[in-house]
Amino acid sequence: PGSDARAGVVREPTVIAHRGASAYAPENTLASIDKAARLGFSWVENDVQRTKDGELVVIHDDSLQRTTNVEQVFPGRAPWKVKDFTAAEIARLDAGSWYSPAYAGTRVPTLKQYMRRIEHNHEKLLLEIKNPELYPGIEQQTLKLLGNEGWLDQKHLNRLVVQSFSADSIRTVHQLKPAITTGYLGSPTATQLHQYARFTDLVNPSYASLSTAYVTAVHAVDGPHGRPLRVFAWTVNDASTACKVAGYGVDGIITNKPDVVRAALGSH
Ligand code: G3P
Ligand code: CA
Repeated sequence: PGSDARAGVVREPTVIAHRGASAYAPENTLASIDKAARLGFSWVENDVQRTKDGELVVIHDDSLQRTTNVEQVFPGRAPWKVKDFTAAEIARLDAGSWYSPAYAGTRVPTLKQYMRRIEHNHEKLLLEIKNPELYPGIEQQTLKLLGNEGWLDQKHLNRLVVQSFSADSIRTVHQLKPAITTGYLGSPTATQLHQYARFTDLVNPSYASLSTAYVTAVHAVDGPHGRPLRVFAWTVNDASTACKVAGYGVDGIITNKPDVVRAALGSH
């Protein structure tokens, strides 16, 4: 979508299920990507971090506290940072009960488990490298895992975008594997836009910072693959905001409620 934005062709934005369909199932779990698939959405977003013993896991916060029962299982280990727990310890945690008793026993997935479920569900992934400053080398490690799982094969590359709030991290991903589609999370200035366009294909800002003028300015710059930069906006969870943001000309909308956004786009 949006690749011919400069020609004035308006297309409906891609709808991306944020942390999976996270309004309806616990975020960043296999249940949340299964839910997105059942609702008929192919694009999901996640957050990748690393355990103490070097396993890549899918979780948003740098602490386990909000989305698991870690306080009960390991009471003496505040502030319960992901990087201070082994994969085996994290595998014991319940990542579903905080959301609803119906999801008791849901686990924090490893990235490997997550990629296999995405493959099984025929989904596409907007993978966020979260807090890369805490995890030196996480870019290489993530690409190695993706490669081992077949996700860097030419025929699968159009099912993957790797994004981060860290421009350095995205630059590293681009340098390691230039064929990967990349996204920078934030609202770069005009100067930054031209710098970042050497290594990022997408610019993904908070919807609150957006305007038609900004989206047009981003679309006017070519990315590393010689195509106009694209814009995925986050995180839009209601119909009227979805219509407003679509009106700015964005290429994608990242949402906890993909069904609500799709219904809104179909009716505006
Ligand atoms: O994909 C965009 C969005 O996920 C960025 O914010 O905090 O939800 O990771 P956050
Ligand atoms: Ca994210």
